[in-house]
Amino acid sequence: MKCVKVPLRQLNDTRIKLMEEGLMNMEYRIKAEDEFGYIPVNDNVEGYEIVCMHLEPMKKVPHSFSELLEDELTAEEIENLRTSFDTIGDIVILEIPDDLVDKKQIIGDAALKFTKRKAIYMKKSAIKGTIRIRDLEFLAGEDDSVTIHKEHGARLKLDVREVYFSPRLATERKRVMESVSDGEKILDMFCGIGPFPILIARSKNVDITAVDINEAAIKYLNENIKLNKLKGNITTYCGDVREVSESFNFKFDRIIMNLPGLAYTFLDVAVNLIEDNGIINYYEFSDSYEQGIKRLESACKQVGKQVEITNCRKVKSTSPGEWHVAIDGKVSKL
Ligand SMILES: C[S@@+](CC[C@H](N)C(=O)[O-])C[C@H]1O[C@@H](n2cnc3c(N)ncnc32)[C@H](O)[C@@H]1O
Repeated sequence: MKCVKVPLRQLNDTRIKLMEEGLMNMEYRIKAEDEFGYIPVNDNVEGYEIVCMHLEPMKKVPHSFSELLEDELTAEEIENLRTSFDTIGDIVILEIPDDLVDKKQIIGDAALKFTKRKAIYMKKSAIKGTIRIRDLEFLAGEDDSVTIHKEHGARLKLDVREVYFSPRLATERKRVMESVSDGEKILDMFCGIGPFPILIARSKNVDITAVDINEAAIKYLNENIKLNKLKGNITTYCGDVREVSESFNFKFDRIIMNLPGLAYTFLDVAVNLIEDNGIINYYEFSDSYEQGIKRLESACKQVGKQVEITNCRKVKSTSPGEWHVAIDGKVSKL
């Protein structure tokens, strides 16, 4: 191995100079012996004494997911896998395409090494059913599906096998939270483990009614209420919001409807429960905003109300050409 030989007292300055000039060979270790230092270099360097020495190679620590898998998968396959990572607390959920399923264990082990999280799971189905959960297969680490996820300062405890939760909605939840004013009475019709209510009640003095049909979701929301320091108040109900809301003898300044596949079927409930000039945060899967706006307008019209659309945005892509869209509407009497 070619080395620059310098007296030990010049070792550090020379090392820095060679590194800055890109002349040092970073794959080998510097050696100090008999009052001299030996710095590995790629080529002869003018102005220095060059000698040949045996130097130890650096231990190669893989720095990235790509390096861990570069012998197994193509660069494109690795990139696709990487963008599929959902990190929820200390759990990582991966989407492994069908043609790579026979390499799931290698991929799971690499993900565990790279992310240093507690557990790696793989998606085994789409999100399905009334309670919107998916099947997961344990791949690596410790098979414990309960975790605490941190989002904008909130602590959200959940079991990834039992409840719906998507970290990809964090920006949307923050946006809604920031649009809330102190004093609002809010209904979250499909609250899950309560990311909207917890985030909002942490920073706003509000009164939130949170409903979900999934018992496990409400169990975790009740824990999350205790885990977080809240300025506002949250009351939880477990059941179908259509039935549960029959007992509400008050109206709401804001209604959050994040059940994007089916929220439109509950618009009749929402438009009846919304206060005059209240806001509906409505969500659906669509390739445009028009369909959602028409649905809001039609639901309002049927009860003698109107809606002014105050904001529309794409929350996330769900499939090519389709989006999880958010539409905010201010509802008032005609
Ligand atoms: C897409 S998840 C959204 C959860 C939460 N808002 C979030 O952002 O993480 C929809 C939730 O609606 C609940 N759900 C489905 N149908 C319902 C109904 N009829 N009444 C109340 N909750 C319902 C599911 O259990 C699920 O937790």
